[in-house]
Amino acid sequence: MEISIILPTYNEAQNIPLVTERIRKVLDEAKISHEIIVADDNSPDMTWQIAEKLRKKIPHLRVLRRMVNKGLSPAVMDGFRAAAGTYMVVMDADMQHDEKVLPEFVEKFRAGADIVVGTRKASGGSIEGWSRRRRFISWGATLLAKFFLPRSPSDPMSGYFGISRDLYHEIADKINPRGFKILLEILSHSRNKKLEEVGYTFSPRVHGESKLSGSVILQYLIGLYDIRFGKIIPLRFIKYGMVGASGVVVNQAGLYLGKAFLSMANENSLLMGIEVSIISNYFLNNYFTFADRHRKGFRGQFYGLFLFHLVSIAGAVINYAVAILFSEGFGMNIYIANLIGIALATVWNFMLNIQWTWKEK
Ligand code: GDD
Ligand code: MN
Repeated sequence: MEISIILPTYNEAQNIPLVTERIRKVLDEAKISHEIIVADDNSPDMTWQIAEKLRKKIPHLRVLRRMVNKGLSPAVMDGFRAAAGTYMVVMDADMQHDEKVLPEFVEKFRAGADIVVGTRKASGGSIEGWSRRRRFISWGATLLAKFFLPRSPSDPMSGYFGISRDLYHEIADKINPRGFKILLEILSHSRNKKLEEVGYTFSPRVHGESKLSGSVILQYLIGLYDIRFGKIIPLRFIKYGMVGASGVVVNQAGLYLGKAFLSMANENSLLMGIEVSIISNYFLNNYFTFADRHRKGFRGQFYGLFLFHLVSIAGAVINYAVAILFSEGFGMNIYIANLIGIALATVWNFMLNIQWTWKEK
């Protein structure tokens, strides 16, 4: 088996019979021994079932009906794992990726390439019928990848790419399929490997619809950050900082609410702002910063909130005392006094965490 074609699918019922037939034809004509692996996420339109039926016509077609850990990247990883070919190529199942250049992929591999990227920008590559917005996004993402990655092909967002089995096994345990772009992950772990490109024309989609939305672009950017800087400043720390910044706003808003709407005394308003921000920080951290291990259920939440209060208590006291001192003692505007209190509490929390929670060994 020389090449395994991996087709991740989600609702491609109309496309799957056409695309598999095209691939089979091209590779048979070029006398390249191959298999096709459909990695379907249990599509509601029964793509997996239709693909199963095609097995009568197309030898070496296999179907993975995936029930857990859904998503494009994990589906591709499952495809790699199941593949038997010396080379493995990932393609869209919607005929947007021109199958006629598959023999070129194989030639590049035979000549020693470790990674081959189908690119819409190399000679022969073009983009038919793309909106200006999509062109812009693609251009921006490409620029960023060039900046972030040690080495980048001219179309780093490409979903049409191949990897040799040898390289796959060398880096398989380092590839993190959490993100969206497996190719980026592969490239970031393949420093001194031979990278080749094959140009092709990216056609418009005929059946079904695109699954890649705006949020995918965001995930792409997060993925890039993580690959390049994740080890220096972990993503989690950035998220923690963002939550902290939101807490400043919530704290001040709580103070304002107490004073302006509930006509509470400064002292109680300050306490309310602090408490409200601790609670909102807890929930934001739980579902955003620590989304991968968030606490669940009433008891779990309650206990988590309790722990978070324990950790926050000294900072809260500093926040309160400083705000009172500056406003009552020195007659400063209470919101500015509160801001100073928050700043000092943040410094304290930071020192506490360095000295205690994450003490150097
Ligand atoms: N198993 C599985 N699970 N397959 C999926 C999923 C998923 O969650 N989401 C999408 N797919 C499949 C689709 O069925 C299709 O075969 C392929 O992955 C690509 O999805 P499309 O929805 O066709 O993406 P696109 O055409 O908008 O985007 C193309 O261009 C991007 C660059 O701009 C693709 O080639 C992308 O890979 C590429 O990054
Ligand atoms: Mn597509």
